[in-house]
Amino acid sequence: MNVLVVGSGGREHALAWKLSQSPKVQAVFVAPGNGGTALDPRLENINITDIQALRAWAALEKIALTVVGPEQPLAAGIVDEFRKHGLRVFGPTQAAAQLESSKAFSKAFMKRHGIPTADYETFTDAVAAHAYVDEKGAPIVVKADGLAAGKGVVVAMNLRDAHEAIDFMLSAGPDQNVLGVTHNQGADGVAMPRVVIEEFLQGEEASFIVMCDGKNVATMATSQDHKRLLDGDQGPNTGGMGAYSPAPVVTPEVHARAMREIILPTVKGMEKDGIPFTGFLYAGLMIDAQGKPKTLEFNCRMGDPETQPIMMRLKTDFYDVMMAATSGGLNGVELEWDRRPALGVVMAAHGYPLAPRKGDVVSGLPRLTDDPAVDVMVFHAGTTRQGQDTLTSGGRVLCVTALGSTVKGAQHRAYEAAQGITFDGAQMRKDIGHRAVKP
Ligand code: AMP
Ligand code: GLY
Repeated sequence: MNVLVVGSGGREHALAWKLSQSPKVQAVFVAPGNGGTALDPRLENINITDIQALRAWAALEKIALTVVGPEQPLAAGIVDEFRKHGLRVFGPTQAAAQLESSKAFSKAFMKRHGIPTADYETFTDAVAAHAYVDEKGAPIVVKADGLAAGKGVVVAMNLRDAHEAIDFMLSAGPDQNVLGVTHNQGADGVAMPRVVIEEFLQGEEASFIVMCDGKNVATMATSQDHKRLLDGDQGPNTGGMGAYSPAPVVTPEVHARAMREIILPTVKGMEKDGIPFTGFLYAGLMIDAQGKPKTLEFNCRMGDPETQPIMMRLKTDFYDVMMAATSGGLNGVELEWDRRPALGVVMAAHGYPLAPRKGDVVSGLPRLTDDPAVDVMVFHAGTTRQGQDTLTSGGRVLCVTALGSTVKGAQHRAYEAAQGITFDGAQMRKDIGHRAVKP
């Protein structure tokens, strides 16, 4: 069978790599892919990003299964388009993808279905928003409504920062994009800048990801991301600077609560609301000292970089799982995981996250192996091939991911491998996994 993975990040490289290991899969195409998927002889890049053109190509090539990595094509309706033409695709419809693409939608959904999350209000009017934060006090969290690649959130530790964030996020006119945020339409059909202001939650974060077929779920291994740019969780928010799996903060009790209080009510709620959820459902959890999980956000896709360590640990044939997930067959499906932890360290470009530089030559990349039992993998993200060279072409460039008998062991191997790879201005945190490694 031929399979298509949509996207160009480290997540898509890892998904394509895992799918290519299935004996049932002949070819894995990645659209548009990156320098790493171009290098791998089992993967082939397809330079099409337009959704309708990609659908036409997939039909022509008799693609048996399409897996969509990033949120943008999902929010743009790629799943609806593929399904309309009888193509098998794993991901949420445009309507269901609102769980991620609209914070206002997902917060209202959670309120309606009693799913634990921070208290909040939504505003289009700056005066009312300012009055609200004055009333609530700091710390408080201000979020732009719309897709902003993790950059539309300000955790304001004082009122001045909160007021500034409101002005910044609401200042853009209907046509402008602050932070690259796509404005959502309000009830009146007008796309307006909108902010969600919510209660500050304390605790430890974890990424809780499941696969849904509309009714049933299969859980992925747990993981933890590192969102801030710098060591010690300092500096600006990014898409994620490294991740490891499993996350010890998700104890069996926390896992059971997250399933019972968040995941299952969400899947049931979406079904009841007439927009059944298919695809990866990713709950960003904040787990308090008592082990109570609350939902920080939903994503309607796998996490990046969480996917990279998670895929390193997956033992089940991923193609089989995907076929079950796209035919309502996830009931009773349990995925098998390598008991060893995996940890991925992101190497980011000079200037990331604000203004990543492109065109730096990457050297020291290890040679590819097709051994599925490999315990160190360099997943590519913002890379491109030029002649014999690999050049940086985006913010997050590589995710060096390793298995180890302990988190510390995986951390050691990942950093050892990363040290051999260089490009000008490379940024890398030195403490990925710190919460799980005893000093
Ligand atoms: P989001 O994109 O909504 O997940 O927010 C990005 C990051 O901001 C999260 O991973 C948290 O670190 C932080 N954050 C978001 N909402 C809150 C909240 N209500 N309380 C504390 N931190 C938050
Ligand atoms: N790593 C966080 C995300 O994918 O949203």
